[in-house]
Amino acid sequence: MLLLKNKSAFKTTLLIFSIVIASSSIYYTEMLVKKLAQREEKMIDLYAKGLKFIVSPDNNGNISFLFNEIIEANNSIPVILTDEKHQPISSKNISIPENISERKTTTLLTIELEEMKDQHEPILVEYPAMGIKNYIYYRNSYLLTQLLYYPYLQLIVVSFFGFIAYLAFSYARTAEQNRVWVGLAKETAHQLGTPISSLMAWIEIFKATPAFAENNIVEEIDKDIKRLEIVTSRFSNIGSSPKLSLEKIFEVIKESVDYLQLRISSKIQLSVATNLNEDFEIPMNKPLFSWVVENLVKNAVDAMNNVGSIHIVINQEKVNKIIIDITDTGKGMTKKQAEQAFTAGFTTKKRGWGLGLTLVKRIVEEYHGGKIKIKNTEIDKGTTFRIEMDC
Ligand SMILES: Nc1ncnc2c1ncn2[C@@H]1O[C@H](COP(=O)(O)OP(=O)(O)OP(=O)(O)O)[C@@H](O)[C@H]1O
Ligand SMILES: [Mg+2]
Repeated sequence: MLLLKNKSAFKTTLLIFSIVIASSSIYYTEMLVKKLAQREEKMIDLYAKGLKFIVSPDNNGNISFLFNEIIEANNSIPVILTDEKHQPISSKNISIPENISERKTTTLLTIELEEMKDQHEPILVEYPAMGIKNYIYYRNSYLLTQLLYYPYLQLIVVSFFGFIAYLAFSYARTAEQNRVWVGLAKETAHQLGTPISSLMAWIEIFKATPAFAENNIVEEIDKDIKRLEIVTSRFSNIGSSPKLSLEKIFEVIKESVDYLQLRISSKIQLSVATNLNEDFEIPMNKPLFSWVVENLVKNAVDAMNNVGSIHIVINQEKVNKIIIDITDTGKGMTKKQAEQAFTAGFTTKKRGWGLGLTLVKRIVEEYHGGKIKIKNTEIDKGTTFRIEMDC
């Protein structure tokens, strides 16, 4: 639980941190863009003044300095000079393909004018002495435009790499968890194997001893050993890639239910129903699947106060799909509990490990290619788990 809480606190901190970095990066670039835009505006203003001065009869003819320093120096801001009817006269920093007719050039510049108008109002240059009016149209330089989009592009690239890195790390973590899980299961099965074989040999000796054969002690021990064998085969199956074989689904579930009914309060009713033929077979690993049923039923029993009912329904929903609904009349879960129920380590029980549903999910989804979800849960009313399996 502590780990779960820390994990979500860590995620929130990470999220806040990323938002702060992203917004300060956007804020800083926008500040730069604003400054650059102001500079470009000033430059165009100067450009207009320069033009006016060149044409003005007041100047003493020494205009080459002005022309070179102001008008020619602008090699980044696209500008178009038009007459008073807004017809282009000349342009600068606009790429016009070579060898195109004058008419085409004018069309191109007119289109450009429209775009420029969207960005900035044209600057009027008046020459009262000559009775001429010109307009200067301009738009942001390529650099400014680039800078405008740069932070967003940067954020997209960084988030993309962040996402890939996250996937890689979580894949590596899951792979490591899998190795530990599988290794532990294999080792458990291996270690249980020796004492069980030895117990089996002992039971044969007991069976042959008349003193033991008379009462049912040997029979009971035999049952316990069979149970231990099932437990071992569960561990050894989960520790390797388990083989699926065609099994009668109703029978497998009924067997587990019968086994459990004897071990729970008699005030809890367990029942199984199906709309299928009872001999209907689907590919499954029997030791693992009965583990799923046991875990779900045990959780249902834990959710009840020793009284209630657990109903299992096996139905064919589509031609190739079977659904198994396990419904109990237990205490139900809150929305938050239901969201976390399948997370390893999540438990609301004093002595719980929070592993049952993780195991169930793994068996159903990874080993059988099926699906499991909480179909419905309501506080004090009960819960329905739904398993979907291919058939
Ligand atoms: N049928 C149910 N009704 C109400 N709550 C449930 C039900 N099944 C699961 N839960 C909730 O989900 C939690 C996780 O279940 P899970 O089986 O994974 O772990 P656990 O039963 O607590 O421990 P264990 O590892 O011993 O199974 C439970 O602690 C319980 O709060
Ligand atoms: Mg459990």
